[in-house]
Amino acid sequence: MELKKAVGIKAADYIENGMVVGLGTGSTAYYFVEEVGRRMKEEGLDIVGVTTSIRTKEQAERLQIPLKSVDEVEYIDMTIDGADEISDDFHGIKGGGAAHLYEKIVANNSKKIIWIVDESKMVQKLGAFPLPIEVVKYGSQQLFKRFEEKGYQPSFRKNEDDTLYLTDEQNYIIDLHLGQIDYPIELEKELDKMTGVVEHGLFLNCVDTVLIGTSEEVIVKEV
Ligand code: A5P
Repeated sequence: MELKKAVGIKAADYIENGMVVGLGTGSTAYYFVEEVGRRMKEEGLDIVGVTTSIRTKEQAERLQIPLKSVDEVEYIDMTIDGADEISDDFHGIKGGGAAHLYEKIVANNSKKIIWIVDESKMVQKLGAFPLPIEVVKYGSQQLFKRFEEKGYQPSFRKNEDDTLYLTDEQNYIIDLHLGQIDYPIELEKELDKMTGVVEHGLFLNCVDTVLIGTSEEVIVKEV
């Protein structure tokens, strides 16, 4: 948790007065959003936030960060968000917190994207982390079967009480247990074509800067 906190706080240094800032979701982004709130209160930092989940929206509201929806801004200057895995060629898996649909919409409307992670998220190839797929409820059992047939080892994400997990858009999540993704671009194309898939957690060729928390320091990688 200390590494996530260090990197989250460091990320807030990138935020400047007047920016429209995409506020990510997850335990690392949480610290970033807290630090933005602190800088606004104590240093007079003046920004507008665009949130990537209901959870982050509630946090930002508690911190009194002024918010706009992604549809109310011309563009987002910078989005700072976590990631579940980042490969050595800087592709990512996101959606461990089931927020990847809004995260991708916000990212696609951002001039600059920064990911903040602890060093455990850096991998050679993606895939050890299950790939989250947000799917519409209707036909989701059929999609599940298609994934099984392809050998993708799907599982529906569930809550602790064994009910199916619902995203902020009231869709289901199917996690694919792929082990290793050798061809992420081909997989992205395949998933993009599947009817009923709302969005998948592959974020390819989109990040500009990665901040990595290690026990010694926060490493900055420009992509
Ligand atoms: C939310 O759906 C995700 O994309 C998160 O950004 C990702 O899971 C990273 O979360 P942590 O910072 O909690 O590991």
